Amino acid sequence: MLTRRTFLDRLRHWLLGILGLSGLAGVAGYLYPPALRRRGEPLLLANAAELKAGEGRLFDYYGEPAILLHGQEAPRALSLVCTHLGCSVRWQPKEGRFVCPCHRGIFDADGNVLAGPPPAPLERLRVQVQGNHLLVG
Ligand code: FES
Repeated sequence: MLTRRTFLDRLRHWLLGILGLSGLAGVAGYLYPPALRRRGEPLLLANAAELKAGEGRLFDYYGEPAILLHGQEAPRALSLVCTHLGCSVRWQPKEGRFVCPCHRGIFDADGNVLAGPPPAPLERLRVQVQGNHLLVG
């Protein structure tokens, strides 16, 4: 027979177990950040002829937000994951910079840190041009 005390003990153990597992997931995410996780083949992103100068195209890079920018130079791609605590930065095309909404980190159009707490530039993703196609990764 399940007594009230036994039931509450089991419930407490379950809750502590769930809390422990969620804590382990957080620690694992910190020790093994998304940038280090294995990524797959390069992604076919666009037909080079379709991209206009000054255009930014958002895409999903293996579960992370990223952007393909086409300026005056060759197209470049950047991860939109802030290098401080992992928030998604936002592209501000008029200012030509990225701003992190979490702690006001600011990056230039090449992903270099201009201000705020981010310790490193945004991750730059390799862009390959194959014929008319742009591949990232
Ligand atoms: S997470 Fe971007 S500045 Fe803190």
